[in-house]
Amino acid sequence: MKKILVTGGAGFIGLNFIKHILDIDRMDIVVADKFTYASNPKELLSISKIETFQLDLADLAAVENLFNHQEISHIVHFAAETHVDKSINDSRPFIQSNIIATVNLLNEAVKRKVEKFVHISSDEVFGEIAIPGKFSEISKIAPRNPYSASKASAEHFVEAYGNTYGLPYTIINSTNNYGPWQHPEKLIPLTIRRILQKKKVPVYGNGSQIRDWIFVKDAVEAIRKILHHGKYQERYCIGGESEIRNIDLIRMILEKMDAEENLIEYVEDRPGHDARYAFSIEKVKRELMWRPKYDLSDGLNKTIEWVREHENRI
Ligand SMILES: NC(=O)c1ccc[n+]([C@@H]2O[C@H](COP(=O)([O-])OP(=O)(O)OC[C@H]3O[C@@H](n4cnc5c(N)ncnc54)[C@H](O)[C@@H]3O)[C@@H](O)[C@H]2O)c1
Repeated sequence: MKKILVTGGAGFIGLNFIKHILDIDRMDIVVADKFTYASNPKELLSISKIETFQLDLADLAAVENLFNHQEISHIVHFAAETHVDKSINDSRPFIQSNIIATVNLLNEAVKRKVEKFVHISSDEVFGEIAIPGKFSEISKIAPRNPYSASKASAEHFVEAYGNTYGLPYTIINSTNNYGPWQHPEKLIPLTIRRILQKKKVPVYGNGSQIRDWIFVKDAVEAIRKILHHGKYQERYCIGGESEIRNIDLIRMILEKMDAEENLIEYVEDRPGHDARYAFSIEKVKRELMWRPKYDLSDGLNKTIEWVREHENRI
């Protein structure tokens, strides 16, 4: 039986991915996660049928030890430090967890001849793009903040290992995910929680930055399809086809929660804040017959409901 290593499986997307594949795929699942502040260890450990190891992937000895004891055939690599603001305050943990950890995994993947290494990355690695442009799989990598620079660097290593050592890899670049189990430091769960607590909702600058949003259940279905059917040595861009300005997104959430607009509080903009990210997802639609099922309104309704139910448990 195939054995898949899911790194960062206690994090937001990793946890949703495991829940999604658990009953569909006949694969043994092994999780490696450091259990940082951003993770959901309790929820992960409540899932039976998977093996979980708490370890720092930047620790070479720990990674070697894991591979010495597990015969891994596939890797889906989610683990990373993911908060842009934190990377602006101190980029070093991002170098450790996003670059060094990835290189440790790549070395083991080559040594153990894994069948596929799926690397999860971000739309941010391409930098910002003006309307009406869209990035795609062939766009130039041009990161503009320390988080995206660390993710871009990791991708370069993945491609280099493919080219130099023949590592069978696929890279997935995703736009912003939202949904159950996302840490409340991120925009959508933060906004929902602040509204529930009747507190001010902070908006960076004038809120004019544009992002595309993909509901996490759509994202994990795309990742699963790409794991099984995505081409080797290639990348796929995935997104929700739901572009919106941050301020309009926040207004939409306020309206859905019957809250007043005067909860909005404009705060100093993030330094180097990218104006817009946008993807063309034609390749994944054409080759893998995948397209997002949830529109932003449906996804937000589900997320608001989930945060309400879990407000005191996360
Ligand atoms: N959330 C998004 O909107 C989004 C969009 C595009 C790409 N991505 C990428 O998807 C992946 C998952 O994102 P997420 O939002 O689920 O992140 P998250 O911050 O919710 O979870 C990250 C997980 O990785 C673990 N981790 C961090 N450093 C580690 C280390 N050194 N060793 C082992 N485990 C470690 C954490 O404990 C946590 O469980 C990341 O690679 C991220 O860059 C996320």
